[in-house]
Amino acid sequence: MSLIDRIKDPIHLEMDLFEEKFYESMTSRVALLNRITYYIVNRKGKQMRPMFVFLTAKLLNKGELNERTYRGASVIELIHTATLVHDDVVDDSNKRRGFFSINALWKNKIAVLVGDYLLSKGLLLCIDNDDFDLLKIISTAVREMSEGELLQLEKAKSLDITEEVYYEIIRKKTATLIASCCSLGAASVKPKSDDVATFRDFGTLIGLAFQIKDDLFDYGSRKIGKPLGIDIKEQKMTLPLIHALKVADKKDQKWMLDTVKNHNTDKKRIQKLIQKVKDLGGLSYAEDKMHEFKEEALKLLEAYEDSPYKRSLIDMVDYVVERKI
Ligand code: IPE
Ligand code: IPE
Ligand code: MG
Ligand code: MG
Repeated sequence: MSLIDRIKDPIHLEMDLFEEKFYESMTSRVALLNRITYYIVNRKGKQMRPMFVFLTAKLLNKGELNERTYRGASVIELIHTATLVHDDVVDDSNKRRGFFSINALWKNKIAVLVGDYLLSKGLLLCIDNDDFDLLKIISTAVREMSEGELLQLEKAKSLDITEEVYYEIIRKKTATLIASCCSLGAASVKPKSDDVATFRDFGTLIGLAFQIKDDLFDYGSRKIGKPLGIDIKEQKMTLPLIHALKVADKKDQKWMLDTVKNHNTDKKRIQKLIQKVKDLGGLSYAEDKMHEFKEEALKLLEAYEDSPYKRSLIDMVDYVVERKI
Protein backbone atom coordinates (compact mmCIF):
# COMPACT_ATOMS: atom_id res chain seq x y z
CA MET A 1 0.00 0.00 0.00
CA SER A 2 1.31 3.47 -0.83
CA LEU A 3 1.87 5.94 1.97
CA ILE A 4 -1.14 8.01 0.97
CA ASP A 5 -3.43 4.94 0.80
CA ARG A 6 -2.22 3.87 4.23
CA ILE A 7 -2.99 7.33 5.60
CA LYS A 8 -6.49 7.29 4.14
CA ASP A 9 -7.27 3.73 5.23
CA PRO A 10 -8.90 4.61 8.59
CA ILE A 11 -10.87 7.51 7.07
CA HIS A 12 -11.77 6.28 3.59
CA LEU A 13 -15.53 6.16 4.23
CA GLU A 14 -15.41 9.71 5.57
CA MET A 15 -13.40 10.90 2.56
CA ASP A 16 -15.91 9.36 0.13
CA LEU A 17 -18.83 11.01 1.89
CA PHE A 18 -16.87 14.25 2.11
CA GLU A 19 -16.45 14.40 -1.66
CA GLU A 20 -20.20 14.25 -2.19
CA LYS A 21 -20.90 16.86 0.45
CA PHE A 22 -18.11 19.11 -0.80
CA TYR A 23 -19.50 19.19 -4.32
CA GLU A 24 -23.04 19.79 -3.02
CA SER A 25 -21.78 22.71 -0.93
CA MET A 26 -20.61 24.51 -4.09
CA THR A 27 -23.63 24.31 -6.36
CA SER A 28 -25.36 27.44 -7.55
CA ARG A 29 -28.31 28.39 -9.75
CA VAL A 30 -25.98 30.44 -11.94
CA ALA A 31 -24.97 28.30 -14.91
CA LEU A 32 -21.52 29.87 -15.36
CA LEU A 33 -20.67 29.26 -11.71
CA ASN A 34 -21.78 25.65 -11.98
CA ARG A 35 -19.59 25.10 -15.00
CA ILE A 36 -16.60 26.46 -13.09
CA THR A 37 -17.26 24.56 -9.84
CA TYR A 38 -17.71 21.40 -11.92
CA TYR A 39 -14.29 22.11 -13.46
CA ILE A 40 -12.81 22.62 -9.98
CA VAL A 41 -14.12 19.40 -8.39
CA ASN A 42 -12.93 17.39 -11.36
CA ARG A 43 -9.38 18.55 -10.76
CA LYS A 44 -9.23 17.91 -7.07
CA GLY A 45 -6.03 18.37 -5.13
CA LYS A 46 -4.44 16.17 -2.52
CA GLN A 47 -7.27 16.90 -0.06
CA MET A 48 -4.85 16.99 2.82
CA ARG A 49 -6.89 19.48 4.79
CA PRO A 50 -10.06 17.36 5.14
CA MET A 51 -7.79 14.44 5.98
CA PHE A 52 -6.34 16.44 8.88
CA VAL A 53 -9.85 17.33 10.05
CA PHE A 54 -11.08 13.71 10.08
CA LEU A 55 -7.94 12.18 11.54
CA THR A 56 -7.81 14.68 14.41
CA ALA A 57 -11.48 14.24 15.24
CA LYS A 58 -11.26 10.44 15.18
CA LEU A 59 -8.05 10.35 17.19
CA LEU A 60 -9.64 12.42 19.95
CA ASN A 61 -13.01 10.71 20.01
CA LYS A 62 -12.32 6.97 19.80
CA GLY A 63 -12.95 6.82 16.08
CA GLU A 64 -16.29 8.66 16.20
CA LEU A 65 -17.10 11.89 14.43
CA ASN A 66 -20.25 13.86 13.66
CA GLU A 67 -21.96 16.15 11.16
CA ARG A 68 -20.00 19.12 12.50
CA THR A 69 -16.78 17.35 11.55
CA TYR A 70 -18.05 16.88 7.99
CA ARG A 71 -19.17 20.48 7.72
CA GLY A 72 -15.81 21.62 9.08
CA ALA A 73 -14.00 19.59 6.42
CA SER A 74 -16.16 21.07 3.64
CA VAL A 75 -15.75 24.61 4.91
CA ILE A 76 -11.98 24.29 5.07
CA GLU A 77 -11.72 22.84 1.57
CA LEU A 78 -14.05 25.58 0.25
CA ILE A 79 -11.86 28.26 1.82
CA HIS A 80 -8.70 26.52 0.58
CA THR A 81 -10.11 26.40 -2.97
CA ALA A 82 -11.15 30.05 -2.81
CA THR A 83 -7.68 31.13 -1.73
CA LEU A 84 -6.03 29.10 -4.51
CA VAL A 85 -8.28 30.72 -7.11
CA HIS A 86 -7.38 34.16 -5.74
CA ASP A 87 -3.72 33.25 -5.25
CA ASP A 88 -3.31 32.37 -8.92
CA VAL A 89 -4.63 35.83 -9.82
CA VAL A 90 -2.24 37.46 -7.34
CA ASP A 91 0.73 35.36 -8.53
CA ASP A 92 -0.26 35.63 -12.17
CA SER A 93 -0.03 31.86 -12.43
CA ASN A 94 -1.62 29.99 -15.32
CA LYS A 95 -1.35 26.44 -13.98
CA ARG A 96 -2.87 24.61 -11.04
CA ARG A 97 -3.18 20.88 -10.32
CA GLY A 98 -1.68 20.00 -13.68
CA PHE A 99 -4.15 22.04 -15.67
CA PHE A 100 -5.08 25.62 -16.48
CA SER A 101 -5.89 27.85 -13.53
CA ILE A 102 -9.30 29.56 -13.36
CA ASN A 103 -7.78 32.93 -14.28
CA ALA A 104 -6.03 31.34 -17.27
CA LEU A 105 -9.31 29.96 -18.60
CA TRP A 106 -11.87 32.55 -17.54
CA LYS A 107 -9.68 35.63 -16.82
CA ASN A 108 -9.09 37.55 -13.61
CA LYS A 109 -12.51 39.20 -13.30
CA ILE A 110 -14.29 35.89 -13.15
CA ALA A 111 -11.62 34.27 -10.95
CA VAL A 112 -11.97 37.01 -8.32
CA LEU A 113 -15.73 36.58 -8.19
CA VAL A 114 -15.56 32.78 -8.09
CA GLY A 115 -13.13 33.02 -5.16
CA ASP A 116 -15.54 35.32 -3.32
CA TYR A 117 -18.41 32.97 -4.04
CA LEU A 118 -16.57 29.95 -2.62
CA LEU A 119 -15.49 31.93 0.43
CA SER A 120 -19.05 33.04 1.17
CA LYS A 121 -20.39 29.51 0.66
CA GLY A 122 -17.90 28.27 3.23
CA LEU A 123 -18.83 30.86 5.84
CA LEU A 124 -22.56 30.34 5.22
CA LEU A 125 -22.23 26.60 5.74
CA CYS A 126 -21.14 27.35 9.31
CA ILE A 127 -23.73 30.08 9.87
CA ASP A 128 -26.69 28.08 8.52
CA ASN A 129 -25.90 25.32 10.99
CA ASP A 130 -25.14 27.53 14.00
CA ASP A 131 -21.54 26.28 14.12
CA PHE A 132 -20.31 29.58 15.52
CA ASP A 133 -17.28 28.10 17.24
CA LEU A 134 -16.14 26.67 13.91
CA LEU A 135 -16.96 29.95 12.17
CA LYS A 136 -14.65 31.78 14.55
CA ILE A 137 -11.76 29.41 13.82
CA ILE A 138 -12.30 29.74 10.07
CA SER A 139 -12.80 33.50 9.95
CA THR A 140 -9.58 34.05 11.90
CA ALA A 141 -7.76 31.90 9.36
CA VAL A 142 -9.24 33.86 6.44
CA ARG A 143 -8.12 37.13 7.98
CA GLU A 144 -4.62 35.84 8.60
CA MET A 145 -4.30 34.41 5.10
CA SER A 146 -5.13 37.79 3.57
CA GLU A 147 -2.62 39.46 5.89
CA GLY A 148 0.03 36.88 4.98
CA GLU A 149 -0.44 37.34 1.24
CA LEU A 150 -0.32 41.13 1.64
CA LEU A 151 2.78 41.03 3.82
CA GLN A 152 4.40 38.85 1.17
CA LEU A 153 3.52 41.38 -1.56
CA GLU A 154 4.91 44.20 0.56
CA LYS A 155 8.19 42.31 1.03
CA ALA A 156 8.37 41.43 -2.67
CA LYS A 157 8.55 45.15 -3.30
CA SER A 158 11.12 46.09 -0.68
CA LEU A 159 13.18 42.83 -0.79
CA ASP A 160 14.34 43.42 2.80
CA ILE A 161 12.92 40.22 4.17
CA THR A 162 14.45 38.38 7.15
CA GLU A 163 14.04 34.76 8.16
CA GLU A 164 11.72 35.85 10.99
CA VAL A 165 9.44 37.75 8.62
CA TYR A 166 9.44 34.78 6.23
CA TYR A 167 8.11 32.59 9.05
CA GLU A 168 5.47 35.18 9.83
CA ILE A 169 4.37 35.20 6.18
CA ILE A 170 4.13 31.43 5.84
CA ARG A 171 2.51 31.04 9.24
CA LYS A 172 -0.20 33.42 8.13
CA LYS A 173 -0.69 32.49 4.51
CA THR A 174 -0.45 28.69 4.89
CA ALA A 175 0.04 27.33 8.41
CA THR A 176 -2.99 29.07 9.88
CA LEU A 177 -5.36 27.10 7.64
CA ILE A 178 -3.74 23.76 8.46
CA ALA A 179 -3.84 24.77 12.14
CA SER A 180 -7.56 25.41 11.67
CA CYS A 181 -8.05 21.92 10.19
CA CYS A 182 -6.65 20.33 13.30
CA SER A 183 -8.23 22.64 15.88
CA LEU A 184 -11.56 22.48 14.07
CA GLY A 185 -11.38 18.67 13.91
CA ALA A 186 -10.78 18.75 17.67
CA ALA A 187 -13.50 21.33 18.35
CA SER A 188 -16.05 19.36 16.32
CA VAL A 189 -15.91 16.46 18.77
CA LYS A 190 -14.38 17.99 21.93
CA PRO A 191 -15.43 21.63 22.06
CA LYS A 192 -13.73 23.62 24.84
CA SER A 193 -11.12 20.91 25.55
CA ASP A 194 -7.38 21.67 25.81
CA ASP A 195 -6.93 19.47 22.74
CA VAL A 196 -8.24 22.28 20.53
CA ALA A 197 -5.18 24.43 21.35
CA THR A 198 -2.72 21.50 21.25
CA PHE A 199 -3.90 20.53 17.78
CA ARG A 200 -3.80 24.13 16.63
CA ASP A 201 -0.10 24.17 17.56
CA PHE A 202 0.40 20.81 15.87
CA GLY A 203 -1.22 22.11 12.67
CA THR A 204 0.81 25.32 12.74
CA LEU A 205 4.09 23.37 12.88
CA ILE A 206 2.98 21.04 10.07
CA GLY A 207 1.84 24.04 8.05
CA LEU A 208 5.24 25.72 8.35
CA ALA A 209 6.97 22.52 7.18
CA PHE A 210 4.38 22.23 4.39
CA GLN A 211 5.08 25.70 2.97
CA ILE A 212 8.86 25.28 3.21
CA LYS A 213 8.42 22.10 1.15
CA ASP A 214 6.30 24.03 -1.37
CA ASP A 215 8.98 26.71 -1.59
CA LEU A 216 11.66 24.06 -2.14
CA PHE A 217 9.68 22.63 -5.06
CA ASP A 218 10.00 25.98 -6.78
CA TYR A 219 13.80 25.54 -6.87
CA GLY A 220 13.52 22.03 -8.35
CA SER A 221 12.72 20.68 -11.78
CA ARG A 222 10.18 18.02 -10.89
CA LYS A 223 6.70 18.41 -12.46
CA ILE A 224 4.32 19.39 -9.65
CA GLY A 225 1.26 20.52 -11.59
CA LYS A 226 2.02 24.23 -11.21
CA PRO A 227 4.71 26.51 -12.64
CA LEU A 228 8.33 26.21 -11.40
CA GLY A 229 10.73 29.06 -10.76
CA ILE A 230 7.78 31.41 -10.44
CA ASP A 231 8.72 32.70 -6.97
CA ILE A 232 11.80 34.59 -8.15
CA LYS A 233 9.84 35.86 -11.12
CA GLU A 234 7.31 37.31 -8.69
CA GLN A 235 10.17 38.63 -6.50
CA LYS A 236 9.08 36.27 -3.74
CA MET A 237 12.00 35.68 -1.42
CA THR A 238 11.69 32.31 0.24
CA LEU A 239 13.87 30.56 2.81
CA PRO A 240 16.52 29.11 0.45
CA LEU A 241 17.19 32.55 -1.04
CA ILE A 242 16.96 34.37 2.30
CA HIS A 243 19.58 32.07 3.77
CA ALA A 244 21.84 32.23 0.72
CA LEU A 245 21.74 36.03 0.85
CA LYS A 246 22.65 35.97 4.51
CA VAL A 247 25.78 33.87 4.02
CA ALA A 248 26.86 35.37 0.67
CA ASP A 249 29.65 37.95 0.41
CA LYS A 250 28.83 41.57 -0.41
CA LYS A 251 29.44 41.19 -4.14
CA ASP A 252 27.25 38.09 -4.47
CA GLN A 253 24.56 39.69 -2.35
CA LYS A 254 24.45 42.67 -4.66
CA TRP A 255 24.30 40.48 -7.77
CA MET A 256 21.56 38.30 -6.30
CA LEU A 257 19.36 41.21 -5.22
CA ASP A 258 19.89 42.92 -8.57
CA THR A 259 18.78 39.71 -10.31
CA VAL A 260 15.57 39.50 -8.28
CA LYS A 261 14.85 43.19 -8.68
CA ASN A 262 15.83 43.97 -12.25
CA HIS A 263 16.38 40.73 -14.17
CA ASN A 264 13.65 38.49 -12.82
CA THR A 265 12.38 37.50 -16.25
CA ASP A 266 15.82 36.68 -17.65
CA LYS A 267 15.70 32.87 -17.66
CA LYS A 268 19.47 32.39 -17.90
CA ARG A 269 20.18 34.74 -15.06
CA ILE A 270 17.51 33.10 -12.88
CA GLN A 271 19.15 29.70 -13.53
CA LYS A 272 22.44 31.17 -12.37
CA LEU A 273 20.78 32.55 -9.26
CA ILE A 274 19.20 29.19 -8.48
CA GLN A 275 22.62 27.56 -8.81
CA LYS A 276 24.11 30.13 -6.48
CA VAL A 277 21.40 29.54 -3.89
CA LYS A 278 22.23 25.82 -4.05
CA ASP A 279 25.99 26.42 -3.80
CA LEU A 280 25.50 28.62 -0.77
CA GLY A 281 23.56 25.85 1.00
CA GLY A 282 20.15 27.54 0.78
CA LEU A 283 18.24 24.38 -0.07
CA SER A 284 19.79 22.20 2.60
CA TYR A 285 19.28 24.93 5.19
CA ALA A 286 15.56 25.10 4.33
CA GLU A 287 15.31 21.30 4.42
CA ASP A 288 16.84 21.25 7.90
CA LYS A 289 14.37 23.84 9.14
CA MET A 290 11.48 21.89 7.61
CA HIS A 291 12.58 18.78 9.51
CA GLU A 292 12.90 20.74 12.75
CA PHE A 293 9.25 21.84 12.47
CA LYS A 294 8.24 18.30 11.64
CA GLU A 295 9.97 16.88 14.72
CA GLU A 296 8.41 19.53 16.94
CA ALA A 297 4.98 18.59 15.58
CA LEU A 298 5.53 14.89 16.20
CA LYS A 299 6.44 15.61 19.83
CA LEU A 300 2.97 17.04 20.41
CA LEU A 301 1.43 13.70 19.41
CA GLU A 302 3.42 11.72 21.97
CA ALA A 303 0.89 12.43 24.73
CA TYR A 304 -1.88 10.61 22.85
CA GLU A 305 -2.42 6.87 22.99
CA ASP A 306 -1.74 4.69 19.99
CA SER A 307 -4.56 4.21 17.45
CA PRO A 308 -4.90 3.80 13.67
CA TYR A 309 -5.75 7.53 13.52
CA LYS A 310 -2.64 8.53 15.39
CA ARG A 311 -0.52 6.33 13.13
CA SER A 312 -2.09 7.97 10.07
CA LEU A 313 -1.43 11.43 11.47
CA ILE A 314 2.21 10.51 12.00
CA ASP A 315 2.32 9.26 8.41
CA MET A 316 0.72 12.53 7.29
CA VAL A 317 3.55 14.43 8.91
CA ASP A 318 6.02 12.30 6.94
CA TYR A 319 4.01 12.80 3.79
CA VAL A 320 4.17 16.60 4.16
CA VAL A 321 7.96 16.57 3.96
CA GLU A 322 8.45 13.58 1.63
CA ARG A 323 5.67 14.28 -0.92
CA LYS A 324 6.46 14.60 -4.61
CA ILE A 325 3.63 17.03 -5.45
C1 IPE B 1 -1.29 24.61 -2.18
O1 IPE B 1 -1.78 23.70 -1.26
C2 IPE B 1 -1.17 25.95 -1.55
C3 IPE B 1 -0.13 26.05 -0.54
C4 IPE B 1 -0.41 26.38 0.68
C5 IPE B 1 1.26 25.80 -0.89
P1 IPE B 1 -1.89 22.15 -1.62
O2 IPE B 1 -0.55 21.67 -2.10
O3 IPE B 1 -2.48 21.42 -0.47
O4 IPE B 1 -2.90 22.18 -2.83
P2 IPE B 1 -3.83 21.06 -3.46
O5 IPE B 1 -5.19 21.24 -2.86
O6 IPE B 1 -3.25 19.70 -3.16
O7 IPE B 1 -3.83 21.37 -4.93
C1 IPE C 1 0.10 29.52 -0.89
O1 IPE C 1 0.66 30.48 -1.64
C2 IPE C 1 -0.83 30.10 0.16
C3 IPE C 1 -2.14 30.53 -0.31
C4 IPE C 1 -2.71 30.07 -1.40
C5 IPE C 1 -2.85 31.51 0.49
P1 IPE C 1 1.73 30.14 -2.79
O2 IPE C 1 1.56 31.13 -3.87
O3 IPE C 1 3.08 29.99 -2.19
O4 IPE C 1 1.26 28.69 -3.26
P2 IPE C 1 1.26 28.01 -4.67
O5 IPE C 1 2.68 27.58 -4.90
O6 IPE C 1 0.76 28.99 -5.67
O7 IPE C 1 0.35 26.82 -4.52
MG1 MG D 1 1.03 33.19 -3.61
MG1 MG E 1 0.87 30.97 -5.84
